[in-house]
Amino acid sequence: METKNYRSLVVRESEDKKFTSAIEELSTQNLPAGDVLVRVLYSSLNYKDMLSASGNRGVTRKYPHTPGIDAAGVVEASSSADFKPGEEVIVTSYDLGMNTSGGLGQYIQVPASWIVKKPAGLSLRESMIFGTAGLTAALSILKLADHGLPKGAEILVTGGSGGVGSSAVSILSHAGYKVTAINGIYDESAFIKSMGAADVIDIPDPAESAGKPLLKDRWDAAVDTLGGNPLTFALRSVKANGAITCCGNAASADISLTVYPFILRGITLYGIDSQNCPMKTRVRAWELLAGSWKYPWLESISTEVGLDNVIPSIEKIKAGKHRGRIIVNMKD
Ligand SMILES: NC(=O)c1ccc[n+]([C@@H]2O[C@H](COP(=O)([O-])OP(=O)(O)OC[C@H]3O[C@@H](n4cnc5c(N)ncnc54)[C@H](OP(=O)(O)O)[C@@H]3O)[C@@H](O)[C@H]2O)c1
Repeated sequence: METKNYRSLVVRESEDKKFTSAIEELSTQNLPAGDVLVRVLYSSLNYKDMLSASGNRGVTRKYPHTPGIDAAGVVEASSSADFKPGEEVIVTSYDLGMNTSGGLGQYIQVPASWIVKKPAGLSLRESMIFGTAGLTAALSILKLADHGLPKGAEILVTGGSGGVGSSAVSILSHAGYKVTAINGIYDESAFIKSMGAADVIDIPDPAESAGKPLLKDRWDAAVDTLGGNPLTFALRSVKANGAITCCGNAASADISLTVYPFILRGITLYGIDSQNCPMKTRVRAWELLAGSWKYPWLESISTEVGLDNVIPSIEKIKAGKHRGRIIVNMKD
């Protein structure tokens, strides 16, 4: 196959253990082995990409490295019978952008088993507005739906301004649920309400519930993206037999827990891991995102940048100065 040169974000580690990022020209011949070569047309920025670009060894072990856990593009070459050149595809999670060269390069080469055919009803660009964040929100909501959500149920979403949180608020309110969101550090009430949330509250002060294993039961279910005290609050305030999904740790990886939500209210806590989610569930989630869960204000939660603006955009995520989704146009 013909070798191509392409532009890519590359994160390097210096001898004094500092991490620097730059846009470099690379060659497809140095990509990892894989069944399918994809020309990436859109990518997106996630919390995990910021961690990878910052030298977080829990995400990326070896540098130099190209982050990007999300990629949408067109098959350039394939040794798999399942994919043909010219097909539009979405690749998210698995090892993409972690220890496999990711979607912030104009080409990726991956196993066929990582690839989802783009569903009708969604453009490549729109698929990246959802990206891993939207997929994770969809997997969380699917889990709650399968648990059994009463019609018009009241749902708590923590971290409503973030990628996963804003996607969850949007999908749920579009689907007719009554959403209350919890802000992150900043007050983003106006933005979160513009996505249909009925109410937005600040992170509850843990001192107010200290010594109270249960709080007033208020929500039928909750989508947690923050961990820490917001997850503790959700566990103590979801109604009997309700469920909570836990996908993130933006506030903290630690939770203060007693057995009471489980033994006095029958609460179920579901873990969400989009990275290892089975392909069948993944395809089901993408079909919903392309269909009944595709909310009309999808564009309004996103900002588009080019590859040349990726580094400052990652800095914004690091400083907590972004909201919603940042998509990256990888065409130039
Ligand atoms: N399990 C999975 O499969 C999976 C998939 C995707 C993401 N995640 C995880 O889900 C979480 C959210 O990801 P994302 O992509 O939505 O991130 P994001 O777009 O950067 O959003 C982060 C959210 O967390 C809030 N936040 C940040 N630091 C905080 C703090 N110290 N205390 C309270 N709130 C804080 C932010 O609000 P402010 O800016 O107002 O603080 C924002 O609402 C991350 O932990 C990520 O690793 C997990």
